[in-house]
Amino acid sequence: MNKQQASERIIKLRELINDYRYHYHVLDESLMSEAAADSLKHELTQLEAEYPELITPDSPSQRVAGAPLAGFTQVEHSTRMLSLNDVFDEAEVMAWRNRIIKLLPENAKIEYFTDIKMDGLACALVYEDGQLVRGITRGDGFVGEDVTANIRTIDSVPLKLRKGKDVEKFLKGRTEVRGEIVMYKADFAKLNEARVKEGKPLFANPRNTAAGTIRQLDPGLVANRPLHFRAYDLQRDDPSDVPTYAYAYQAMRALGFLANNDATVLPDVKELMAFADQWETKRQDLPFNTDGLVVKVNDRQLYRRLGVVGKAPRGAIAIKYAAEQATTKVKDIFISIGRTGAATPVAMLEPVVIAGSTVQMATLHNEGEVQRKDIRIGDTVIVHKAGDIIPEVIEPLVKLRDGSEKPFQMPTHCPDCNTKLVKYKTEDAVWRCPNDACPSRAWKRIEHFASKGALDIEGLGEKNVIALINAELVKDPADIYTLTPADLLKLDRFAEISANKLVASIQAKKQPPLGRFVYGLGIRQVGTQTAVDLANHFRTLEAIAAATIDGLSEIEGIGEVVAESVVEWFSEPINQQLLQKFKTLEVQPQPVKHVGGKLSGQRFVVTGSLDSMGREEAGERIRALGGTFQSSIGKDTDYLVVGANVGAAKLAKAAKLGTKQLTEAEFLEMIA
Ligand code: IVH
Repeated sequence: MNKQQASERIIKLRELINDYRYHYHVLDESLMSEAAADSLKHELTQLEAEYPELITPDSPSQRVAGAPLAGFTQVEHSTRMLSLNDVFDEAEVMAWRNRIIKLLPENAKIEYFTDIKMDGLACALVYEDGQLVRGITRGDGFVGEDVTANIRTIDSVPLKLRKGKDVEKFLKGRTEVRGEIVMYKADFAKLNEARVKEGKPLFANPRNTAAGTIRQLDPGLVANRPLHFRAYDLQRDDPSDVPTYAYAYQAMRALGFLANNDATVLPDVKELMAFADQWETKRQDLPFNTDGLVVKVNDRQLYRRLGVVGKAPRGAIAIKYAAEQATTKVKDIFISIGRTGAATPVAMLEPVVIAGSTVQMATLHNEGEVQRKDIRIGDTVIVHKAGDIIPEVIEPLVKLRDGSEKPFQMPTHCPDCNTKLVKYKTEDAVWRCPNDACPSRAWKRIEHFASKGALDIEGLGEKNVIALINAELVKDPADIYTLTPADLLKLDRFAEISANKLVASIQAKKQPPLGRFVYGLGIRQVGTQTAVDLANHFRTLEAIAAATIDGLSEIEGIGEVVAESVVEWFSEPINQQLLQKFKTLEVQPQPVKHVGGKLSGQRFVVTGSLDSMGREEAGERIRALGGTFQSSIGKDTDYLVVGANVGAAKLAKAAKLGTKQLTEAEFLEMIA
């Protein structure tokens, strides 16, 4: 990007970030997630670092957040309410520790006071001789809004400090307690449920709702909304009254405040990182939202000595968990044809790192979604990725457009085989390529047929399937049984040994278990468990093929949509031909002789990794004994098999639902 282009981009980024900040901090509305805004700020700072001459004093990169609202009296804070610098990994924590160590006396013993970073709004409570006299919002850090009348309605704010053990000194003179006002996740959900019933617009998130509530001019309304104050700082005119943060928390609790019980003192960076790792999953079970930890030098004399840089103290940092959103540009939009013919628009992105991995493509789901969100080629977009889920485009940032963006046009024909795309009546949103012989579909169908959960044919992965299709050796899953070593040797990919091996592994799967075979056919709506249910109920392929919608609906767990899809698949001439071809080639799925078994009627979820087998195998063993293998824990789950490296959240959920937990050894005994 040259200087002229950088300058234009910087101006647009600043406008959008300023808009976001104004809505977020002043109007309590959220134009995008904090992570997405951070991502834009990051781009701005990088451009400004490249062209420092373009930095102006009004750039969001140079500013401290928040402006006081005009509706409340403005009050100056006794000491500035600061922010924290964010760090994201061990290296950055270590760099911080090395920086501060250099600034402190050699013999200084540094301990780290660590607490959960709550996602609410900061507030300072001023007490004179033990009585609450003022509650002030953070505002711009120097001046905040006097919201005392509203604060008084919060039950967890003591109107009078308690005469707890060893805290008499705080009851005399001026004591200031700072903390976070939060709305709990459960209360937020209830509030929104009620708003649905009342036909009112929904609140965006607990933080904004809490902030909006505290700035209501009517304290009566505030009293009806459940808010909580959780303390994190205690200040006195004489700083020696509070020697450490650990002491501050103890004293605040004795004075009647709620301070997180999980806050703790840790000796070094290694322990800090272990604590951060532990909370990355455990945080889901907290009543409020959090996106990280706060770490402060425990000794407040050392903390003060470290001073302030910009708007943040040197002696503290926030360790933030990886953001699940980022912004990037859409380079192109193409259509991916799935195994069942679904034509899915996919965005090709400029690579961006989200939650630790590089994302280059994101699903746009379907044509309607692209239109509804108005996503154009060339747009800067917000992309979301969490855990294993496929990344998706949340929305375009329309204000960053420069006019060069191109709207997306859904093709009318399959980009692969040029067949006209169609829609099925049951799912209006999805365009499909109806051509069963479409090369894209054929490739994905064969790959699926050979996959681990289906026939599990070793050596028949994506690349080999594509090579076989390109060489016109196969067109459908049945064709693989016609392959000879001589056919394979025509391809560069194969030598004698590998060709013999692949043919042998295909031939070894001529009598597959019925459930695996049915799953391998790739019928829409039929996953592994449904396939096994069909096999166990009907026993033979012929009986499944002849089943009616009523007959299918009798099976527990099979609804109308699945039943229709099964009937439709077996009635298509092309599929009937495929089944005939299997027969001619003597591929005979094994009829189910004996249903039931010792796990019959019992439902299992496996979490974490097992030493003795993979998840697929565990599922298969459970099914083979008549049990049901579920992918996530629910009310009807009977057993949770707990492997290694399991998050606390899963176990807590199981405990809450009363699901029996099994160790790997207990599970092995059960299936022995
Ligand atoms: S200690 C210098 N402890 O995070 C400020 N802050 O980015 C140090 N916050 O404005 C404050 N939970 O509102 C501290 N356990 C916690 C916190 C916490 C949330 C907020 C606080 C502050 C912001 C700093």
